[in-house]
Amino acid sequence: MLGSKGFDLWADGYDKSVNLSEEADEYPFAGYKKVLAGIYGIIKSGNGKKILDVGFGTGVLSKKLYDEKYLVYGIDFSGRMIEIAKQKMPDAVLIQHDFSQGLPPELAGETFDYIICTYAIHHLEDVQKVNTLREWMEHLTEGGKILVGDVAFETLDEMECCKVRSGEEWDEDESYPVAEVLKQEFPSLQFQKMSFCSGVFSFSG
Ligand SMILES: C[S@@+](CC[C@H](N)C(=O)[O-])C[C@H]1O[C@@H](n2cnc3c(N)ncnc32)[C@H](O)[C@@H]1O
Repeated sequence: MLGSKGFDLWADGYDKSVNLSEEADEYPFAGYKKVLAGIYGIIKSGNGKKILDVGFGTGVLSKKLYDEKYLVYGIDFSGRMIEIAKQKMPDAVLIQHDFSQGLPPELAGETFDYIICTYAIHHLEDVQKVNTLREWMEHLTEGGKILVGDVAFETLDEMECCKVRSGEEWDEDESYPVAEVLKQEFPSLQFQKMSFCSGVFSFSG
């Protein structure tokens, strides 16, 4: 599993390597643009303006919202990712913090219309995912949503097929969200498949 130093090293080449994998329609980033566009579309169709982006990276999605006058807050543990995102979004509230430790104290009293997390929640094991999502729910405004996009699957069988198809590329260190597993804890959760290895989850508060 990559730590903050690993992401510091990846930061400058991140957008390029994601685009190569996405354009080749290969695991892990096949469907990346559809995932981000899907989340963007859900946000645009609502009225909320205050967003928390967890694991914002180079800010591909949050920068788009920032430019459209959304109020952007973000958490990331990589100093270099924060530097890159800060150049694009100087007025965003970007906090260096490890989200596996819960939300940072600076956000204790804050609520958000949308909490988004793209290609980052797979760094948490399943039990941690559930606890973290429950904590985030406490920080939603009424009618707010958590939108998670990632390498993701409807069923464990679909994940197994992807693992076989991906061969040596498959990353055993990552823990991808699976709809049939998360639905045991969040029965009303919605999942939209975006490619053979990606999708968007929507959790309502
Ligand atoms: C694969 S990148 C995704 C970036 C962006 N959300 C996107 O969709 O392109 C994962 C990001 O999550 C951050 N990250 C991973 N684990 C984290 C953790 N435990 N706490 C804070 N940030 C984390 C990394 O630094 C990196 O910026």
